[in-house]
Amino acid sequence: MRIDVVSIFPEYLAPLRLSLLGRAQEDGLLQLEVHDLRDFAFDRHRTVDDTPYGGGAGMVMKPEPWSLALESVLESVLAGRDASEDKPILIVPSPAGEVFTQALAYELAEEPTLTFACGRYEGIDERVLDWAGERFRVRPVSLGDYVLNGGEVAVMAMVEAIGRLLPGVVGNPESLVEESHSNGLLEYPVYTKPSSWRGHDVPEVLLSGNHGLIARWRREQQLRRTAARRPELLDGADAAPFGRDERAVLRELGYDVVAGRLVRG
Ligand code: ADE
Repeated sequence: MRIDVVSIFPEYLAPLRLSLLGRAQEDGLLQLEVHDLRDFAFDRHRTVDDTPYGGGAGMVMKPEPWSLALESVLESVLAGRDASEDKPILIVPSPAGEVFTQALAYELAEEPTLTFACGRYEGIDERVLDWAGERFRVRPVSLGDYVLNGGEVAVMAMVEAIGRLLPGVVGNPESLVEESHSNGLLEYPVYTKPSSWRGHDVPEVLLSGNHGLIARWRREQQLRRTAARRPELLDGADAAPFGRDERAVLRELGYDVVAGRLVRG
């Protein structure tokens, strides 16, 4: 996969060269290109922002540097894409976007290229998104319901979540199957040696060697943890994947099955 990021702080993205994603780049599984928006601002001060029309606090990013930067990225991106393919995706991190989820990470991991446009200040002039819509599939995406100072931290989170789903990036792909959100539930608790530590013991079942019992215990823990910490993840969920034992746990946790869906009683 090729990922392009446009930012006024290219150094912010440096940690994406480390660890698993760094190795993925060395191995040619991921090509990461970071571009400085100011390289596309040609006045003496390389200005990228201006005051908002209509008044109000803060500054707005000017359209001209953005259009030049995105045209430049698009040229290289299109060179590596099949003409039959859909328009490339442009992700604009914004607290006003759709919320980033594991499902969206899986969807985006299927793309041959992703371009990220990091806004700062009060955001990017809206006309850039309209203009870009003719060339890209534009997706404003939010990391969550809180406000960051700019898109860079959101891009780091998204690139890490997407990058680790690319084939070959995570050494043991099994670990992607069992983790939180892969099946709509939170992950079960994990333990390692010693079996007794400062008066806290590892749950007996994990020492039993009985793989059937261990799998059942882990599923139950996933349900209990999800109901306690993120009950909304279970509301309205399809009940079909839950067997008899799991439904008994769900009933105990206050969920009924109505028309094949989980409903809190
Ligand atoms: N930029 C500022 N806040 C953000 C958020 N919550 N998600 C993505 N980008 C942002």
